[in-house]
Amino acid sequence: MKKEFIFLGAPASGKGTQTKKLAEELNIPHIDTGSMLRAAVAEETEFGKIAKSYMDQGKLVPVDIVAGIINDRLHKPDCKNGFILDGYPRSKEQAEILEKILADINNNDAKLVVINIDTSEDVLIDRIVNRRSCKNCGAIYNIKFLPPKVDNICDKCGGELVQRKDDTVEVAKNRLETYKNQTQPLIKFYSDKNLLVNIDGNREIDQIYEDIKRHI
Ligand code: AP5
Repeated sequence: MKKEFIFLGAPASGKGTQTKKLAEELNIPHIDTGSMLRAAVAEETEFGKIAKSYMDQGKLVPVDIVAGIINDRLHKPDCKNGFILDGYPRSKEQAEILEKILADINNNDAKLVVINIDTSEDVLIDRIVNRRSCKNCGAIYNIKFLPPKVDNICDKCGGELVQRKDDTVEVAKNRLETYKNQTQPLIKFYSDKNLLVNIDGNREIDQIYEDIKRHI
């Protein structure tokens, strides 16, 4: 049976940290719309230019742009044994689009699990402003909670660590508002379909990971 996962959670709840690890262990693709959009912005593609203004303000990128990216990605051959979605869907409209894509690619041979990383709001801004990511491999660090062995250097590949442009207090507050208004309602959407697993995100990274594995 194909394993398909959706990870929900507020900005900096730890979606990327947990999904990178899980994808490696399960040997299925980690599909992260935030990173895909940042790559499009860096490459200054047509969509990247549009996406940039939304991302800089902490708003959701228009639904059609992200749907196109996700549809193309999920039809790639490496998704045939399953995948992990990190950051998609983020609204009811996106969730309904995803249902149509999944109906197209699956033949009743898939099990979908939705993991909600539930993290209290007071820790999120602190995690956001202290996050650093590797420019080369995308590994995620935190100068307060998960520092690299050598300042500003990735432990895994030796790449330079950088701060995301949207990881300022001001943009982070907008991202949290966007999350509350548009993404949080998906908790009920998936709970009503009996697909949701709630995970307490206010713990150590390894404790959260073990808890996720117990539920999947
Ligand atoms: P995206 O990149 O997806 O950002 P996000 O949802 O705000 O999530 P983050 O990447 O900030 O956090 P995370 O939960 O992955 O946490 P992480 O593991 O890094 O999206 C960016 C933008 O792209 C959006 O604002 C939007 O504009 C656009 N976009 C993306 N998807 C879209 C979509 N579907 N539709 C429309 N627009 C879209 O951890 C955070 C930090 O905390 C790290 O430093 C980490 O080391 C640390 N940490 C993690 N876990 C713990 C822990 N348990 N204890 C202590 N520290 C921890």
